[in-house]
Amino acid sequence: MRHEPAQSPHVLRGLAVEARNVTKAYGDRVVLNDFSLDMRPSEFVALLGRSGSGKSTFLRVLGALDGDVEGRVWVPRRRAIVFQEPRLMPWLSVLRNVTLGLPQTRAVKDHGLTTLAEVGLESRADAWPRTLSGGEAQRVALARAMVRDPHLLLLDEPFGALDALTRIRMHGLLRALYQRHRPAVLLVTHDVDEAILLADRILVLTDGRISLNAPVDLAAPRGLSDPRFGALRRRLLTELGVDAA
Ligand SMILES: Nc1ncnc2c1ncn2[C@@H]1O[C@H](COP(=O)(O)OP(=O)(O)OP(=O)(O)O)[C@@H](O)[C@H]1O
Ligand SMILES: [Mg+2]
Repeated sequence: MRHEPAQSPHVLRGLAVEARNVTKAYGDRVVLNDFSLDMRPSEFVALLGRSGSGKSTFLRVLGALDGDVEGRVWVPRRRAIVFQEPRLMPWLSVLRNVTLGLPQTRAVKDHGLTTLAEVGLESRADAWPRTLSGGEAQRVALARAMVRDPHLLLLDEPFGALDALTRIRMHGLLRALYQRHRPAVLLVTHDVDEAILLADRILVLTDGRISLNAPVDLAAPRGLSDPRFGALRRRLLTELGVDAA
């Protein structure tokens, strides 16, 4: 597998992500079965699939966290991942968590503070992670990803553990961050409405293959009152094997 620098073939072809014939197996169990994917720069793609369908594996392959795959993957060098749980270091302040792994210069610290302000948490820069709510901790995790100015942002059910109201606020925050910075985004989610609200394109993963690839062609602001929202929702739920009658 190759993760190439800027002048690689996929960049010359105008793509942010190019995955070709990727197969991933754990022993005899084939989890990803010969899938291919192109993503344009700044494209927002949501990935749906039943539990165990291979979504997180897919994301780990694009994040180069899982090297042992067949096929070819080109992704930007600047990429960042957010998981369902915030994964903050409890012994580091909020700001130090955001700038983790970066040189601790004045410029990096200032950029960290600016990014914390973007997620509404500048005033918590010196706080300890254990003093944050679940939603706040996840906003810090988003800031830690965005501070790297990623060309590819990988999100693995980032709002899955949050209550419904907090999740709605996080949708607004993610949309604002996306519109300001325009990374390519791959959002893994269980939530069909979240996918339709946020994404340009929705993929459904079934048995390790992309079984549906649907552009989301709805006018903003997207809402449940749009009949085409309901139609796409039913189509996705059917593909996921949920009776949506
Ligand atoms: N390290 C591993 N070793 C063996 N099998 C694994 C490993 N990681 C994942 N699997 C298996 O691969 C399959 C896909 O797992 P994956 O975590 O990608 O699913 P998922 O779609 O993200 O599920 P969920 O929605 O529950 O998060 C599962 O059957 C899982 O048991
Ligand atoms: Mg998963």
